[in-house]
Amino acid sequence: MANVITGQNVNMASTLVTGGAGFIGSNFVLGWLAADCGALVNLDKLTYAGNPANLASVQNIHRYTFAHGDICDSTLVAKLFRKHRPRAVVHFAAESHVDRSILGPEEFLKTNVDGTFTLLQAARSYHDSLAGEERERFRFLHVSTDEVYGTLSPADPAFHEETPYAPNSPYAASKAASDHLVRAWIHTYGLPAIVTNCSNNYGPYQFPEKLIPLMIANALQGKALPVYGDGMQVRDWLYVGDHTSALRTVLERGRIGETYNIGGGNQRSNLEVVTMVCELLDELVPKSTFRPHLQLVKYVTDRPGHDRRYAIDARKLEGELGWRPKESFETGLRKTVEWYLENAAWVENVTSGAYQQWIEQNYSTRERGDATTIEARRKADAGRGTR
Ligand code: NAD
Ligand code: DAU
Repeated sequence: MANVITGQNVNMASTLVTGGAGFIGSNFVLGWLAADCGALVNLDKLTYAGNPANLASVQNIHRYTFAHGDICDSTLVAKLFRKHRPRAVVHFAAESHVDRSILGPEEFLKTNVDGTFTLLQAARSYHDSLAGEERERFRFLHVSTDEVYGTLSPADPAFHEETPYAPNSPYAASKAASDHLVRAWIHTYGLPAIVTNCSNNYGPYQFPEKLIPLMIANALQGKALPVYGDGMQVRDWLYVGDHTSALRTVLERGRIGETYNIGGGNQRSNLEVVTMVCELLDELVPKSTFRPHLQLVKYVTDRPGHDRRYAIDARKLEGELGWRPKESFETGLRKTVEWYLENAAWVENVTSGAYQQWIEQNYSTRERGDATTIEARRKADAGRGTR
């Protein structure tokens, strides 16, 4: 049966999104409504990472419904299934920041594990109640991460769908647990679910606790750019719009019970990323008194258990479903820096209050530790003959 979700076919059917006020979720919601893919219900607890301002442009659209609540609340979740009879669930809601998971893992287990369990139970019971075409077309799309696969050394091949799970941080372990729950619900109960594991995203609306928006926000204020350890850890970067287009593709044509890795083939060391951000700011903010922004780099104490390298092999998604990313890292990063420059009020809004406590908690001890500047690091490297 054709499982078409775009255009006219399903305009009346809802999709239930969780965590749609966060970074990737809000990009997904905006893209979904812009592409006229049907009605959408967004269940979000509005934690520090959830921001209704991300969705201000769609809040009055009749196809969009916001439900403020917790995915761990089984009564609320069951009520949403009964009321909206979704044709699909796209599950983003999670605690998502590795450093926070190291300093306080409890919320990660609650939302990422218990919350996913609650959703799965509600989806299963709802799916069991369906018949005919409604039952045929129902999907549960679980949005997960490449961090479940652990860490790679420089010569290792990229993560593929059969790579064994080896999560290293509390965040990664909680996401791995949630992936395993989804797998069990597929195999045991026949829930028509699909899992995606994506690499590092960047783009508009990313909370400035993550590397790229943190570096942009700090550089614009002449604050230190805290690079963990030697800055040679590698991440595989994907523009958020490419992630959301991949998710729409998987929802439309992905096979039930399968896992699809999503990635853009853009492996960069953290130092390379920070350097590119600084160079873009040098160019786009020519009057900045902090130019060259790279001088703001400060090497600080490393993240405990820091994964050295992630890389995604997305050939299954590309070959089977024909998805391709549109942005290169250069074009995506330029768009991103421009967005942050044009949306200074958004940044100011999310970096007041509790954000400052987080910065103090995560960075104050790091900066007192083995912090050093990029200039001092270069001199030390030159002294050792390592450049
Ligand atoms: P985010 O932290 O920006 O947003 C998370 C959203 O979930 C927020 O809106 C928050 O309010 C909501 N939320 C948290 N707990 C909730 C709860 N108990 N009930 C309801 N809502 C709750 O996260 P993100 O970066 O947008 O990531 C979204 C998903 O994608 C996560 O599942 C994450 O693991 C996954 N992912 C992220 C990346 C990345 O690079 N950011 C890469 C791959 C996969
Ligand atoms: O790989 C996908 C994952 O990418 C997602 O599942 C996570 O939700 C998302 O947060 C991201 O995890 P990372 O830990 O890779 O992202 P983060 O932006 O926190 O860090 C990127 C790299 O930059 C990492 O090697 C740590 C480093 N870093 C980060 C911060 C915040 C620094 O050197 N300094 C910093 O201040």
